This record gives sequence, structure tokens and C-alpha cells, in this order.
Amino acid sequence: MQRVKSIVTGGAGFIGSNLVDRLVKERHKVIVLDNFISGSRNNLSHHSKKNVKIIKIDISNNKNLYKYFKGVSYVFHLAGLAEIIPSIKNPRKYFINNTLGTLNVLEASKKAKIKKFIYAASSSCYGSPKKIPTKETEKIDTKHPYAFTKLLGEEAVMKYANFFNMPNISCRFFNVYGPRLNTRGQYGAVFGNFLIQKQNKKPLTIVGTGNQTRDFIYVDDLTNAFIKLIKSKVRNKIYNLGSGKETSINKIASIVGGEKTFIPKRPSEPNRSCANISKIKKDINWKPKISITVGVNKLFSN
Ligand SMILES: NC(=O)c1ccc[n+]([C@@H]2O[C@H](COP(=O)([O-])OP(=O)(O)OC[C@H]3O[C@@H](n4cnc5c(N)ncnc54)[C@H](O)[C@@H]3O)[C@@H](O)[C@H]2O)c1
Repeated sequence: MQRVKSIVTGGAGFIGSNLVDRLVKERHKVIVLDNFISGSRNNLSHHSKKNVKIIKIDISNNKNLYKYFKGVSYVFHLAGLAEIIPSIKNPRKYFINNTLGTLNVLEASKKAKIKKFIYAASSSCYGSPKKIPTKETEKIDTKHPYAFTKLLGEEAVMKYANFFNMPNISCRFFNVYGPRLNTRGQYGAVFGNFLIQKQNKKPLTIVGTGNQTRDFIYVDDLTNAFIKLIKSKVRNKIYNLGSGKETSINKIASIVGGEKTFIPKRPSEPNRSCANISKIKKDINWKPKISITVGVNKLFSN
């Protein structure tokens, strides 16, 4: 029997490599498109060539991606540059990489007549939202080029669904954490720093008062949602993807344990963030299963 084929762009990164693990468990044959700008081959070294084919390619400067998409059923488009401060320093680079890159992946997927296209959008599109927990209908207010380029990608994904009747879904991720998280990236910041500090027996650095909150979702809960999305009939939709729970940085620090030290707050970061996830819960009968205490302990015991 022919195996289902899936493409994961950015599959050598944190979320991408966890998704590849899950797809291989589901017996998919996976093609990874990655230029290793922040991802690494090591994240996929436990897979055989039979299950995972890795192609080193920059999706933003290659208009001829189609050859990899022939016969592919599902596309998970996760490749992107994902840091706030570098995006302010070099908006053009972010625009080309994230927006043009998305357009190239969309074009190839359209030609291949794929069965589902999932896009990694970002909760940063809400800026500092008025209503918390935040629904998908909340006002869009991008505060930096990273958020803007991810939003433009989302708009392209939704427009392609309309113009060309493509089966596209955009998921606005909140703060994802779990094994192999990027210790340099903006999103990995809290956990990346805490992991390194814990290893080096240094105090945990807390930005601001530590009372600011985020919605942290464990990566396995996120990949579970992806599997449900591709098995479902939903298309042409935007979903928040978070835990639906608000957790302060101080709470994370107390689960991790040890001494703390405080550093000044960074610009353009919201004080609170929490997803309203009722839409995705209802549409695909999914819910997050890993509590913050279990997730943090899992991550720090590795
Ligand atoms: N981690 C989070 O909490 C979070 C939150 C919201 C959105 N996202 C989005 O999810 C996606 C994955 O994030 P992550 O945390 O796994 O980041 P990551 O940096 O670990 O992964 C991104 C991957 O994309 C690859 N890549 C980047 N530009 C590329 C290009 N032009 N061509 C080919 N490959 C390219 C990188 O090498 C890397 O492997 C990103 O698009 C990010 O914007 C992540």
C-alpha cells in the first residue's frame, strides 16, 4: 500500500521536528524542506531515510518547489524566521523569507492539488489585545515586522483558499514549548534561558516583574491538533492554537525551582496573553492534555 506523503517546511526546527516525529508515528512518508538557518539536521538524526527525506533548500528564493510536492497529500508550512528584534533590524529579510516564502509554498501546493495546507501563524497578530482570553475575531494589531510578515503570510493562505478553492487552514500559535525548543529564538526565550541557567546552576532571569502572563502550549498538544485537522473536513479557517490557560513567568520559575534575578522589561511585548480556543475545540473535538506543571517537569527532566 502507498504511504501518505507529507511535506514539513521548517521540519528541522523545534516545532517542525516534533511534528515529523508524530507524522512518522502516523506512518506518513515525510519530506522536510529546510535551509537550516535556525534548524538543525541533529533534530532529525533519529529518523531513517525511508521515513524522512531531508532537502536543504531556501523556500523564499526558489520558485520551482513543485517537484518536491508531486504526490504529496498534506503540507505543513512552518518554515520562517521567528525573532522580534532581528525583524525590526532587518524587515526586508523577514518580508522576503516569511511572506515570499509562503507564496512559493502556496503555489507549489496549489499545483500539486494537496488535500490540506496548514500554516503556522502567530498570536503576535493581536499585539496587546483588549480581551483576554482572545478570540480569533479580536482586532489585528501587529507591533513589529515579524508579526506583520506572519500576518501577510496568513492573508495569502486565506486568499489562496478563496481564489483557488484550496483546503487551507491557518493556526495562530501562542507560546509553544517542549523538547528541542530553540534557545536563541524569541518564543523560546523564557524556556531557553531557564534551561541554560538551570544547567549552569545560575539564577533564573525574570524579565520585568514576572507577573506578565503567556499561554504556553506543549508541542505534543499542538501536533495532536494538526493530526485532527488533517483528518477533519474543516478548510478555509483560522484557529487559535494555545492551551487556553494563562500562566505567569513567576509560576514557571517556581515550577522549575531555584534562585531568581530580575532584568528590565523589553519593548513591544504584551503584559498578558491567553488564547480563547473554543473554536478549534468545537470544530475538531480537540483539547490540550498536558498541564503546565507536567509539561515543564517533562522538559526539565530530559
Ligand atoms: N515557537 C513558537 O512559540 C511559535 C509561536 C508562533 C508562531 N510560530 C511559528 O512556527 C514556525 C516554527 O517555529 P519554531 O519555534 O519551530 O522555530 P524554528 O526556528 O525552530 O524553526 C523554523 C525552521 O524554519 C527553517 N527556515 C527558516 N527560513 C527558511 C527558509 N527560507 N527556507 C527553508 N527553511 C527555513 C529554519 O531553519 C528552522 O528549521 C515559525 O514559522 C514561527 O513563526 C512559532
